[in-house]
Amino acid sequence: MTPHEIHCQYFSQEDLLGAGCLDIRMAMDAAADAIKAYEAGDVLFPEKIVQIFNDETQERINCLPATFKQEKICGVKWVSVFPPNPSRYGVQNLSAVIILSEIEHGFPIAFMEGTLCSNVRVGAMGALAARHLAKQDAETIGFIGAGEQAKMHLIAMKTAVPSLTQCRVAAKEPAEEELFLKEMGPILPDIEMTGTRSNLQAAIKGADIIVTATSAQAPLLKADWMKAGAFYSHVGGWEDEYAVAKQCDKIVCDDWETVKHRTQTLSRMYKDGELTDADIHGNLSEMLSGKKPGRERDDERIYFNAVGLSYTDVAIAIAMHRRAQEAGMGQDLKIQHEMIFEHAHLRDWVRL
Ligand SMILES: NC(=O)c1ccc[n+]([C@@H]2O[C@H](COP(=O)([O-])OP(=O)(O)OC[C@H]3O[C@@H](n4cnc5c(N)ncnc54)[C@H](O)[C@@H]3O)[C@@H](O)[C@H]2O)c1
Repeated sequence: MTPHEIHCQYFSQEDLLGAGCLDIRMAMDAAADAIKAYEAGDVLFPEKIVQIFNDETQERINCLPATFKQEKICGVKWVSVFPPNPSRYGVQNLSAVIILSEIEHGFPIAFMEGTLCSNVRVGAMGALAARHLAKQDAETIGFIGAGEQAKMHLIAMKTAVPSLTQCRVAAKEPAEEELFLKEMGPILPDIEMTGTRSNLQAAIKGADIIVTATSAQAPLLKADWMKAGAFYSHVGGWEDEYAVAKQCDKIVCDDWETVKHRTQTLSRMYKDGELTDADIHGNLSEMLSGKKPGRERDDERIYFNAVGLSYTDVAIAIAMHRRAQEAGMGQDLKIQHEMIFEHAHLRDWVRL
């Protein structure tokens, strides 16, 4: 080991899975602690950088950084969202990598597959919300969308609300529903799962918990289908008619100030003058701290929308990194052997 060697560890998705990082409870704790740290001023949280390559399809790569000052770790999620991928190429929509650095020398400590962390974060935030906002004896969950976020959300909701025993799912193509049932059935054998052959109403009507996680940009979910007492976790962009939010007793966001400048249904409503600050019950952090109540009555309809806060991704990545290290997973990556001008043969390598 030379004095100026820099090493970091590389963790593949399989390393993380093998170490037990698909753990929604761990992610919920990490996200809740991160929210507390943010409130205490211990988190640097710059604006995310967005590069959109196709306005119509919204194919994009985003860069989401955050720093935990107490833990002395800075991280960034580099995430691609390519909605046409599944239908066009048969590959996933979202993919991500994460870099973690220490902030004593500023050197990288981990380079990780990030799709797992990102999808677990979406689920964990939904689960934290469900813990405060869903009926705790909920039995039925209905999905519009059967993709990667929907699958993770099912595991997350079952973690937050263990009484769930029925799941109905509607996707654009019945084949996607079949795949959802095939993949999720063995993981959650005590939930009876049904595909509705793209009948959205059949998936949602009467459900205690509703999840929309689609790549559509259309008002798919109708207000009439949402029964009194239902909790709705909105994951995608524009996927419900305005009347859904309007009829809800409470609307909760991960961060309303961030949500209102984006492109989801609530953001559209705000821009169209159909929703004001006064219509928002609060941010999830206020329910976590007890500043505002969560669910107060069995018949409340409650709407939750998380836009994604990069510090929760980085916090979950830190928790995953720790667990994967403890499990002895990962590979050493040598970033440099020595500093540039220390290389004895630099004269042979330099191009003048
Ligand atoms: N809120 C967040 O923090 C967050 C984070 C990651 C992804 N997302 C968003 O979640 C959404 C889903 O992502 P994914 O990774 O699961 O994508 P995916 O491509 O794996 O799944 C998309 C699903 O949408 C369904 N769908 C599309 N059009 C439909 C229609 N007209 N009717 C019914 N179903 C339809 C498809 O059938 C598919 O099952 C995307 O919009 C993505 O941008 C949100």
